[in-house]
Amino acid sequence: MSNPRKVVVIGAGPAGYVCAIRLRQLGQEVVVIEKEALGGTCLNVGCIPSKALIAAGSLMEKVAHAKTFGLTVEGMQLDVGKLVEWKTSIVGRLTGGVGGLLKNHGCTVLMGAARIVDRNTVEVTGSDGQQRVTCDDIVVATGSIPIEIPGFAFDEDAVWSSTGALSPKEIPGHLVVIGGGYIGLELGMMYRHLGSQVTVLEATPGALPGQDRDCVKVIERSLKKQKIKLMTETFAKEYRRGDGGGLVVTVERGGQREEIPCDQILSTVGRRPYSEGLGLESVGLTTERGFLKVDKQMRTAVPNIYAIGDIAGQPMLAHKGSKEGLVAAAVIAGQNEEYDARCVPAVIFTAPEMASVGMTEDQAREAGYEPVTGSFPFAASGRAMTLQETEGFAKIVADKDTDLVLGLHMVGPEVTELVAEGALAIEMGATTEDLARTIHAHPTLPEAVMEAAEAVHKMAVHIFQR
Ligand code: NAI
Repeated sequence: MSNPRKVVVIGAGPAGYVCAIRLRQLGQEVVVIEKEALGGTCLNVGCIPSKALIAAGSLMEKVAHAKTFGLTVEGMQLDVGKLVEWKTSIVGRLTGGVGGLLKNHGCTVLMGAARIVDRNTVEVTGSDGQQRVTCDDIVVATGSIPIEIPGFAFDEDAVWSSTGALSPKEIPGHLVVIGGGYIGLELGMMYRHLGSQVTVLEATPGALPGQDRDCVKVIERSLKKQKIKLMTETFAKEYRRGDGGGLVVTVERGGQREEIPCDQILSTVGRRPYSEGLGLESVGLTTERGFLKVDKQMRTAVPNIYAIGDIAGQPMLAHKGSKEGLVAAAVIAGQNEEYDARCVPAVIFTAPEMASVGMTEDQAREAGYEPVTGSFPFAASGRAMTLQETEGFAKIVADKDTDLVLGLHMVGPEVTELVAEGALAIEMGATTEDLARTIHAHPTLPEAVMEAAEAVHKMAVHIFQR
């Protein structure tokens, strides 16, 4: 075996730490540098803490509607401090787990800010001073940070970023959310369930721009049902403190200005790649709208410097970053590996949940296919009825000519879990017939995916298709 390469991985989020562990498994030497907390945005202030709070909110919502099956709970009360403490304990268990995994695999972890000095040297500035690490390869996995808009600087007091929203001191009376994207809707709905009145301001004509519009229609209906006000084509301009100590947000809609009094603002207008202070210029690397350009082997324009995760391009999703981390590790270890995933599933933890993988009908048409679709509503699913969650549907997009599954788009109960079947189908080159012929356990939600596959050929048994 050739000598191990010494690799510096900058950033210990789901891209960086996964890459580091895989590098060790493949026999390389690894130094991981992290300036804030192991686990990155995902574990500390993103996916994990948000899902913990969302789970609590959705349980409260369920209990509040349990009268239908005879359960009445009097005097339900939320101890916000305890909720945040519980969330923090989950984060602690997971980040501790990442620390343990890195240690057990033999990675050296340095806490501090990394700066690339030259192609083979990285400087680390930590609480105990500065040191230089020499290496054969560098993997940049520095992630992304929330975008700030003028007039709404994050002070995590009046104006929360997603980070502030995940550690509330109390549940705001009226929360104004700027941005009706992934984060805005997930956290907006969560606060609604925890008791806030919620108004969402969205610049475009609809929520969740870029997502399957049939799915979004269901989410928009659900917003209305939950009495969350979605103001579209609305731009947040500024805010001020009102007389009574509350806040007043000024918005512009159709050329008119309007004032919205509220108690808390949450700004979630997107995230941008993060590379400040990293010293990319010292090796001649430039970014394009903040992103580092990489080839299929995750190499930047400098052959021994790799980029993975949010900094390496859209979609900014944890699991896409992890996959890229595995690819970069294999390439560095000398394997002939490429990032050739056919699809990246996307999951949104709204109520109901939304999930999709692969192409939409429009994307399939653009790619030269003749798309055909089949849908199955959860209203016809026995399992969905027993869960009291019958909103939404599963929709399969397939190629008319070959019957190949091209996409699966869903909104409804547990669809964030169901989407894995679509990802596997697309990766394996499955046809709708393969899905339809596979026996799915009854009564379960994945039956909806099977019936959607049957529906492509007008053969779904539990709905009437003309
Ligand atoms: P986003 O791009 O999903 O949504 C931002 C929204 O803000 C857009 O709808 C945009 O039209 C709107 N907007 C922009 N400027 C505005 C303004 N001045 N006034 C009103 N509306 C405005 O960004 P978001 O929600 O911040 O999430 C960032 C990224 O984080 C996502 O793209 C996703 O990759 C990742 N993420 C993934 C999650 C998941 O996988 N479940 C959950 C949360 C985030």
